[in-house]
Amino acid sequence: MPASVRRLYTELKPSSYELTIAPNAETLTFQGEIVVRLKKTGRPSQRITFHQHGLKVESARIVYHEKKGERELPVTRINNQNSLDEVRLHTDAMVYSGEYEVHMHFSSIIERNLTGLYPSYFTADDKEHILLTTQFESHYARQMFPCIDEPEAKATFTLTVIAPKDDVVLSNTPVAGETPYTGDLWPTSAGELRSVTFQQTPRMSTYLLAMAIGKMHSRSTKTARGTDVSVWGTIAQPAEAFDFALDAAKRSIEFFENYFGVPYPLPKSDHLALPDFSSGAMENWGLIVYRERVLLAYPNEAAQSTKETIASVVAHEVSHQWFGNLVTMRWWNDLWLNESFANVMEYEAPAKLFPEWNMWDEFVANEGIAALRRDAQKGIQAIKTEVHHPDEINTLFDPSIVYAKGGRLINMLKVHIGEPAFQKGLAAYFKKHAYGNTAGSDLWDAMQHASNTDVGAFMNPWIEQSNFPVVTVAQAGRDIVITQKHFTESDEGTDKRLWPVPLFAGRSDLPDRLDGGVLHRKLTSEDFVILNQGSAGHYLVRYESPEHRAHLADLVRNGKLSVSDRLMLLNGAAMLAKAGYQPFGDVLELVGAYADEDNESVWGIISLVVSEARRFIDLDESLEATIKQFIGRMIQKQYTRLGWEERENESASDQKLRATIIALGVYAEDKAILAEALRRFAAYQQDASNLNPELRSIVMGAAVRHGAPEVTAELLQLHDSTSNADLRSDICAALTVTERTDDATLLLNRLTDPKLVKPQDADYWLFYLIRNRHTRANAWDWMVAHWNWVIETYSGDKSYDDFPRYTASACNTEAWADKYEAFFAPKQSDITLKRNIAVALSEIQTRVRWLRRDLPSVQAFFTHQ
Ligand code: BES
Ligand code: ZN
Repeated sequence: MPASVRRLYTELKPSSYELTIAPNAETLTFQGEIVVRLKKTGRPSQRITFHQHGLKVESARIVYHEKKGERELPVTRINNQNSLDEVRLHTDAMVYSGEYEVHMHFSSIIERNLTGLYPSYFTADDKEHILLTTQFESHYARQMFPCIDEPEAKATFTLTVIAPKDDVVLSNTPVAGETPYTGDLWPTSAGELRSVTFQQTPRMSTYLLAMAIGKMHSRSTKTARGTDVSVWGTIAQPAEAFDFALDAAKRSIEFFENYFGVPYPLPKSDHLALPDFSSGAMENWGLIVYRERVLLAYPNEAAQSTKETIASVVAHEVSHQWFGNLVTMRWWNDLWLNESFANVMEYEAPAKLFPEWNMWDEFVANEGIAALRRDAQKGIQAIKTEVHHPDEINTLFDPSIVYAKGGRLINMLKVHIGEPAFQKGLAAYFKKHAYGNTAGSDLWDAMQHASNTDVGAFMNPWIEQSNFPVVTVAQAGRDIVITQKHFTESDEGTDKRLWPVPLFAGRSDLPDRLDGGVLHRKLTSEDFVILNQGSAGHYLVRYESPEHRAHLADLVRNGKLSVSDRLMLLNGAAMLAKAGYQPFGDVLELVGAYADEDNESVWGIISLVVSEARRFIDLDESLEATIKQFIGRMIQKQYTRLGWEERENESASDQKLRATIIALGVYAEDKAILAEALRRFAAYQQDASNLNPELRSIVMGAAVRHGAPEVTAELLQLHDSTSNADLRSDICAALTVTERTDDATLLLNRLTDPKLVKPQDADYWLFYLIRNRHTRANAWDWMVAHWNWVIETYSGDKSYDDFPRYTASACNTEAWADKYEAFFAPKQSDITLKRNIAVALSEIQTRVRWLRRDLPSVQAFFTHQ
């Protein structure tokens, strides 16, 4: 791969595409015709070059629009340069600066690879159906048509699709007109054909174009301003499953119109659930597509947590309709701008639409924890990283960095300058750059105007440097010293880098920010200082004196700390322990302060700390029994409070907490909880409506581990026959907790058959089985033996580097570290895996060292329990 690729846009600026696509779902081939209007700039040459991948451009014409009229430049040779992702149209004439019209006819095949134009499969009425659909981000538009496939090359698109008469055809804009198609260019036995032309799109980037053709149906509504909103699914899906997302979509659009001060720019907004989709969702302008699991809520079968996921994902993608689509990053190095922003908006809209969900606590619990833990790794990339070739984008796609850390930083900016200034800056940004392209500095400029703060100076060190600081507070009476130091989990690779740290201390005797390394102050009172209140800052706080720490633990005990502060205190303690600042036994002591805890987000981190303690079992099996007893005692209070039955008007937190508590109870093999779980599974076998969907995967998992061996076959049968992707995902979670290696083998052998497990899901099955210590060795060996399948199935998209990443989290011992290294170290020559392998190798070494170092302290803690 070339180190740096010339950008075609610098010399060729398209203004419009008229594109006709005729796909044939039976032969899995397609043909296309295109007319591109473009401006040539720069030096004259004898060719015009477009991006393409896998296409055969069969014929081409170049028409020069001179002042005096049109002139055709004869195309002498068409060079499909597949290795360069280009097609070059050569001519003997000179191509000077000016306006051109290029006509091309091309064809290609439709591959099951989840990129470009690809097939999605589903079963309805006992038949297998194909839905043809597209995924163009980041650089796959070139697989469907020749184009300048760079985000800066914005143009209008007028798309015509030739499709079977009875299929639904969707694209970014509403249909402008339809005619029966009788041409013989695209013969198919599909029956009668029609030609559907869509309204011209606004100026937009190629990666946002989309279409879908197949048997679909929908539910629709209108926003207050009259935009048509629809949720679509295949005919295998019940229309009632569309209603929750439809309401969320409509209200998200209305929310963002108001929040951004700019109306939604298209006449319609479609949301389509696809049976096969590689990412979670994709923000194609006017035609957002999703995995079924994150869009569809089956009535009475969707848990509170599923609804929260749907509302968040919808909000994320809807926010991109402005941030990303209306205003787009100039080049992929600023991809973070898109995704970090949408990551915050994923919470911003639901926080306002569903205030009872406490979305900002969720933000800290999900994004905050994920960001800190990943960003504590040595060798992790900064948010802003240079990209020379779009193939490198897949490697940047670290959800904990580009999404979680970036979102956290955008939110930190919002809290630092205040929401009114933040919103004012956004509105100005959208007005100034609508239909254009930007870099990060354009957003900072807009925020700077709105806030009178040097936003670039504040944000750039956070965006451009990897990792974050640990801020140490040494307070003795009224004397305080606050210092910052570059933090990594291994304490290796740290240097003297500094950040502008917003202190969020809520007191007037301290400055707002620590910009240097050290700050000395005389406080006006001896009250203990608490930093990073609300946890909007991306850093850890370490309180040096034992009294200071005891004071914080007291505040937890007395319920005097906010949810986000409670959960970050425990997370911080765990992260500091791993880095060697204190033994892990102390963290387990601190868990004792949470005896009365009743908030689900905080229990999320308690549960995480417990699962970290469970890693020590790999070093000392005898710990398992005591850890189980410890957990069993820890959950009793909440278990008694919540029980199994949902009460009327129960809070979202309690609904989800019940699942956390019961899951811990099942793990701990609490007799009463286990018996009840098995009883409920039996009732579910009689009547599926009997089971609270929030508890579904836990109850099923209990039956897999502790019930009859037939449960496995029964759940697999349900998995293979249901159209409910949320249920399939619960079954996957349940079956992969098995302790039986023959079951693991059975599950693993299904993964390569796409009729049984969709490629989009097979990686989860594998990672779960590797995470489970009873099936770890089997699953690992299976992956090693099927690595070619992994390459064929995943190497083309951004889930490929999940393999080194998620398998690393299972390695706790030297033996496993060696196994991991032997397999993955040689794979560092693969540019798309390189970074994640390097990070994982260091992460595993650090973890193995930590577990060995803290084993005595953990053993001591559990012996005294
Ligand atoms: N634009 C992304 C999806 C994407 C990014 C596809 C890069 C291909 C290359 C989309 O907006 C997104 O962020 N999707 C998330 C789900 C989201 C709700 C967190 C995803 O797919 O993981
Ligand atoms: Zn996104």
